[in-house]
Amino acid sequence: MHPLLNIAKEAAEAAGNVIRFYQDRFDQITVEQKGRNDYVSQCDFEAEQAIIKTIRKYHGNHKIIAEESGVQNGNGDVEWIIDPLDGTTNFLHQFPQFAVSIAVTVKGKLTHAVIYDPIAEEMFTATKGSGAYLNNHRIRVSGQKTLDNALLATGFPYHDFSYIDAYLASFKAFMTSTAGIRRAGSAALDLAYVACGRVDGFWELNLKPWDIAAGALIIKEAGGLATDFAGGENFLESGNIMAANPKMYKEMAQVIGKTIPAELRK
Ligand code: IPD
Ligand code: CA
Ligand code: CA
Repeated sequence: MHPLLNIAKEAAEAAGNVIRFYQDRFDQITVEQKGRNDYVSQCDFEAEQAIIKTIRKYHGNHKIIAEESGVQNGNGDVEWIIDPLDGTTNFLHQFPQFAVSIAVTVKGKLTHAVIYDPIAEEMFTATKGSGAYLNNHRIRVSGQKTLDNALLATGFPYHDFSYIDAYLASFKAFMTSTAGIRRAGSAALDLAYVACGRVDGFWELNLKPWDIAAGALIIKEAGGLATDFAGGENFLESGNIMAANPKMYKEMAQVIGKTIPAELRK
């Protein structure tokens, strides 16, 4: 296993320990509001510090982009993109669907990824060119060929409602053309579930790089496609991402193309 993936796994486990610690002391947790429907807890901050401490134990000079503490500039080719707790709203409601998400880019290319669900104890990992794994077992995207009978995952807009009409148009089209849609509340886990075939596809608008960087690589290494809404690689910048197995991707992209206005198809 590549040393950087090993460090990412160690960091995810350290964050998982923090999350489980607060699960057991839920009544003592302090919570702040960042914006409308946007909360952060002591658990998010401490899980992030556990990740950064692990990375810094090995690499003092790597750039780090972390959701809660921002950017620490580095002086090499390696960059870490961290969401210490993806699914904070779920965590705060004790709805057991949240995860740690850590991606590593080398010279700007997604190279290593870990998504860790500390409750189910599921560790999804990938290194570019070496496949995707769930708890060390190789995973692949589903073989579903058509939208008809497919199960999709998505995320609803919940604090920026400026593109709600575009989203609802796509939602209506997918609702009436698939077997079902799930909104479980963690984009990172949604993407991990595409990678292991639990759902056949995923789409969401307006996400942040730390929500999707790790998941996009894990899907690609599991044989799937993860793109922006124009079929390109701009999803970390635009925040708009769609993902599916290669057989179903085209049909999903057609629905996105018909329902999402051109200015949001990036
Ligand atoms: C959120 C989750 C959610 C998605 C939101 C994200 P957070 O991340 O991934 O599923 O719909 O857009 O912001 O804030 O819990 O880390
Ligand atoms: Ca997130
Ligand atoms: Ca988060």
